[in-house]
Amino acid sequence: MNAKSNAAEAVRAQVGHQPKSSSPVDRYSFMTGSQHVAGLIQGDSAASLRQLPSDIFNVAVTSPPYYWVRDYGYEGQLGHEESVEAYIEKLMGVFDEVKRTLHPEGMFFLNIGDTYYSGNGQPHGSDPKCSSRNFLRIKVRPVDVSGWDIPKKSMIGIPWKVAFAMQERGWTLRSSIIWNRCNAFVEPTARDRPHRQYEFVFMFTKSRFYSFDRSMLVEEDVWNIPIERNRRAKHNAAFPSELVRRCIEVGSPVGGHVLDPFVGSGTTIFTALAHDRNVVGIDMSADYVDYIQSALEADGHQATSWPYLQKRLKQPSAVWSSWVGNKENFRKPGKAKVK
Ligand SMILES: C[S@@+](CC[C@H](N)C(=O)[O-])C[C@H]1O[C@@H](n2cnc3c(N)ncnc32)[C@H](O)[C@@H]1O
Repeated sequence: MNAKSNAAEAVRAQVGHQPKSSSPVDRYSFMTGSQHVAGLIQGDSAASLRQLPSDIFNVAVTSPPYYWVRDYGYEGQLGHEESVEAYIEKLMGVFDEVKRTLHPEGMFFLNIGDTYYSGNGQPHGSDPKCSSRNFLRIKVRPVDVSGWDIPKKSMIGIPWKVAFAMQERGWTLRSSIIWNRCNAFVEPTARDRPHRQYEFVFMFTKSRFYSFDRSMLVEEDVWNIPIERNRRAKHNAAFPSELVRRCIEVGSPVGGHVLDPFVGSGTTIFTALAHDRNVVGIDMSADYVDYIQSALEADGHQATSWPYLQKRLKQPSAVWSSWVGNKENFRKPGKAKVK
């Protein structure tokens, strides 16, 4: 147990905190020492997002469950649909709500990985050290069943199928960033192809004209960021805080508002707070939400009311109008400001 979870345990002991699973309350809000707010909702993403006002978040960043890659161990989890089409339809239900809650000039960074179609009728052997992948060794998934209209052993191409579906729903796809996971593990079962080292981070915007702080961009469209090996809340699919930091710093001013509809172990929440942004995270796993809640308490963040959190999210950052990323402040070389 690391120092942080020790601290969380200590907080639970002090305040008699009950794990989320035994509580009827499904949303939490916190006020940080530096006057930022953090909201946490335990529930299905699409339904939970409907509780939030429209047009408020400067930037959303998330990594949804990939198609039949992990088992988070509860009913209602996304990623276990019978077909790729049903999976994409479910994701679109969530991302339509992300779009509604995004500020008109907001952007959405979507990290998403692919799945192979095995079609061999057998459960697909996978990493024996990773408990959330154990089902791969015992369960015949839809991608293991023969009869698809692509050859066996094919990459399905899910990230691009999702990106095209997003375009059809009106999102503007502005960049397909390659996240080079420089220290990615080898894939033990991939003996006849290169191991996968990169994933996509698609950058979508709600409109053609949006806010973007180019000065905060550290690399162009290949981001070299190692995977973090220290796992919070035993989550096997956390993305690195450096990836989140880059997204929120180009997409929001200090004091701006950040959303993650599949927040998992809380990377987006902790990174946003560490960089002076307000944030809302959603996850259906009671265990992850419980972990994040305890960690925020252990960090000394005070509980506040949900109406207060909503009120704060409806107010733009105090530096919004002077922020260099605000599109009103863009200047094309030799031209007047973009209107
Ligand atoms: C890839 S993980 C996100 C990891 C996160 N980026 C992090 O750094 O820890 C996907 C998350 O989606 C959650 N999830 C799955 N189905 C969901 C649903 N229907 N609604 C909300 N969350 C869901 C899982 O519990 C899991 O934590």
